[in-house]
Amino acid sequence: MSVDQQNQPVVLVSNLVKKYGDFMAVKGVNFAVYPGECFGLLGPNGAGKTSIVRMTYGFSPVSGGKLSVFGEDIMIRPRAIKSRIGVISQDDDLDPVLSVRENLMIYAGYFQIGKQIAKKRCEEILSFMDLQDKSDEPVENLSGGLRRRLTLGRALINQPALLLLDEPTTGLDPYARHLVWHRLRRLKEEGTTMLLTTHYMEEASQLCDRLIIMYQGEIVEEGHPEGLIDRHLGREALELGTGGECPDSLFDDSRELIRGRQGMGDDLVLFTDHGLELMDRVAAQADRQKTPIRYRRLRPSNLEDVFLQLTGESLREDGAAPLPGKRGEEEGEDVR
Ligand SMILES: Nc1ncnc2c1ncn2[C@@H]1O[C@H](COP(=O)(O)OP(=O)(O)O)[C@@H](O)[C@H]1O
Ligand SMILES: [Mg+2]
Repeated sequence: MSVDQQNQPVVLVSNLVKKYGDFMAVKGVNFAVYPGECFGLLGPNGAGKTSIVRMTYGFSPVSGGKLSVFGEDIMIRPRAIKSRIGVISQDDDLDPVLSVRENLMIYAGYFQIGKQIAKKRCEEILSFMDLQDKSDEPVENLSGGLRRRLTLGRALINQPALLLLDEPTTGLDPYARHLVWHRLRRLKEEGTTMLLTTHYMEEASQLCDRLIIMYQGEIVEEGHPEGLIDRHLGREALELGTGGECPDSLFDDSRELIRGRQGMGDDLVLFTDHGLELMDRVAAQADRQKTPIRYRRLRPSNLEDVFLQLTGESLREDGAAPLPGKRGEEEGEDVR
C-alpha cells in the first residue's frame, strides 16, 4: 500500500522527550507515521527505540513534547487509543502455564470482546499464524519462534489499526524470522499501519517504507531505505583487502568513481555507483604500483554501511566487524 501523506498521521511525534531521572533517553524526536505505512525506528541497543514505543501505547509517561495517536494526545486519552492498538513488546509477556488458546482468550478479555466474537477471532488468528496444531499446548513448551508468533497473533485480537512492533524477530532463527516477516507483510497489505523497531538492517530494508535511524536518543537520518543508501553512499560497496598500508595513489585513476570510503579493520570499503569499473581500475593501478590486495569483493551497499558512516559505530550489539563476508576470502592469500 502506498503511503498517503495527505491524510492525518496515525502517529505524530513532536519534540518528544523521555527522561529516566536525570538521564535523557529520547532527546526531542520528531516524526509522523501515515496510514498504511510501515515506519521503522532503526538503531543499536540503547538508542531509545523501546522508550518511544512504550510512550506510544501509554505504558510509559511522556517527559516532554507531544505524542498523538489517531489524532488524540496519548497523555489525555490513553484508553481510547489503546483499544485500537496492537502491541508486540520487546520482552515475552505471555502466560507460560496457560495454553496458546487460553492466552488469546484472556487477552481478548482485556478489550472486553464478547465470548463468541473472541472465540471466532481466536480461531482465525490460530489459522493466520499457523498455530492450530499447538492451540492446546502450554506456552512454556513452545520454542521462541512459536512464542513470537503467538505474541503477534495476540496483538491482533482487537483488530488493531496500528501495530507497535518492538524488535519483533530478535532472537529468532532465520526460518521463524521470515515467517513473521511474511505475516507482517500480509497485515500491511490489508492496510494495517505499523511502527516497528529493529536493530537488524535487513529487517528494516525488508519491511519499512520509511525509517529513522536513531543513535543515543536522537534521529541521525531519515528517509526510504533505498534513498538513504543512495544519498550517503552509492549502490555498491567494494571491499578491498589492502591491509594496514594503503597508499592513496592506489585511487589515482578512480577518484571520480568513489562516493565514500570506510575502514574495515585494517582493510577498506569504497562506495560507488560503478562497482565493476571501480574494481577494474583499482586492480590495474594496484598491479602498476605493486600494491598487494588480498581480496576484492563487490556487494550491494546496505543500511549498516549508512549507520556506520553516520556514527562510526556498528548497529549490531555484539560489536563484531560490521561488514560481512571477509573471512572466507582471506584464506591462503595473506601476504603480510
Ligand atoms: N526504566 C529505565 N530506567 C532507566 N533507564 C532506562 C530505562 N529504560 C531504558 N533506559 C535507558 O534508556 C536508554 C534507551 O533505552 P531503550 O529505549 O530501551 O533503547 P533501545 O530500545 O533502543 O535499546 C538506554 O540507555 C537505557 O539504559
Ligand atoms: Mg529496545
